[in-house]
Amino acid sequence: MTDAARGSRILFVDQSGELGGAELALLPLAIRHREHGAVVLLQDGPFRERLEAAGVTVHLLVDAGVSRVRKTGGLSALLRAALPVYRQVRALARLARDYDVMFVNTQKAFVLGTLTRAIVRRPVVWFLHDIMSAAHFGALQRYVVRGLARFADATLVNSQAVAQALADLTGRRDRAVDVVYNGIDPSQFDAALHTQHRAIRAALGVPTDAWCIGLFSRLAQWKGQHVLIDAVAQMLVDEHDALERRHVGGARERGAPAARSTRHVEVHVVFVGAPLFGEDAYAARLREQVARLGLEPRIHFAGFQHDVAAWMAAMDVVVHTSTAPEPFGRVVVEGMLAGKPVVAARAGGVMEIVEHGKTGLLTEPGDARALASALGALRRDPAYAAELAEAGRETARRQFTEAAFVERVDAALARVADRIGTGHQAVPGQV
Ligand code: UDP
Ligand code: GLC
Repeated sequence: MTDAARGSRILFVDQSGELGGAELALLPLAIRHREHGAVVLLQDGPFRERLEAAGVTVHLLVDAGVSRVRKTGGLSALLRAALPVYRQVRALARLARDYDVMFVNTQKAFVLGTLTRAIVRRPVVWFLHDIMSAAHFGALQRYVVRGLARFADATLVNSQAVAQALADLTGRRDRAVDVVYNGIDPSQFDAALHTQHRAIRAALGVPTDAWCIGLFSRLAQWKGQHVLIDAVAQMLVDEHDALERRHVGGARERGAPAARSTRHVEVHVVFVGAPLFGEDAYAARLREQVARLGLEPRIHFAGFQHDVAAWMAAMDVVVHTSTAPEPFGRVVVEGMLAGKPVVAARAGGVMEIVEHGKTGLLTEPGDARALASALGALRRDPAYAAELAEAGRETARRQFTEAAFVERVDAALARVADRIGTGHQAVPGQV
């Protein structure tokens, strides 16, 4: 750690108590700075437990009026939030006085942090994990972020795609933005690499010799689990048709192709993840889709799992299906570290992780047919799948290390600390 960063007392602020990607990215940073730093959460949950178990001080600043504000809410929702936001800013300001820097890690944290900065004059380091486009945020939310962006004293983003979307929003291409890719510790994936994970398959009822597709993501419409369900139905039809073509002179019956073909092929899907941010209706729709296609025996919902490395080890392929551009996509790197061939959606930060045909496969977001054909290609050619997996693993180990991630964040913190000194100095007045 640089001296300047080490001396700083950092107050991390994150709106979620859940274990989402932005929170998992924050974890090693909060641990590294736990001696002088603390984390403020705007909601309670398992993330708080993880932080506290690691010896990090956590302050909960929960206000239902702020928690209710959504990514796409309208003006009336925002106006209703004005008083709760004011209360939160006052509370955050009281805490922030004892720290040198505020490190804001989510959108609400960013809004509160920049408003708090006007009161306590502490610099704000903003880690933007989101693509600020209409695909992800309402017009009002984008307008607010656009207005406040210049009050961040340093801006870090998790991919070039996020940097680009921010520049498009603010119209400021000259603004200094640091691209800091997530880093993932490979040790758990290494440990899981050569172990048999029969127990995981057995508990789900997945045959040991089935070809098992794993999708590791919270259940949310834009994460696109429905695309994989359609792709599997398509794969079963494709494989059935191929089988029939081989049956010279075989009578070709008509009927429900997916249900009929399940007798011939053993493709299974495991969805690992839960609806973390109020997407329960989507989760229910997924189950209906599975039932409608008659795919219940093959599609398994495992819920949230802590040991992703072990679960990935039990799969034959790891897929990513986001229908809107993924800001980064930790699961893609994790699939590569797990030594699995990865098929991911060609958009956003994922294109900075996977090189199509070399370190994995990319298919158009939302295109179930293309996904089915990529999966079919891997299933038919295990040697090709292994080649992609090996190249992917090597790239992930080299390019997405946790050490590089924390060092780059520390370097940004050190630059801010150098600019303002590490004591209680005020930020040069921009506000
Ligand atoms: N994850 C997990 N358990 C699950 C599902 C996902 O721990 O059941 C983790 C996953 O390993 C990854 C993170 O949640 O590290 C999701 O991050 P990602 O960047 O892929 O997507 P996000 O949810 O942040 O948009
Ligand atoms: C966000 C993004 C995800 C990214 C993660 C960590 O949750 O949705 O794409 O990987 O942050 O930066």
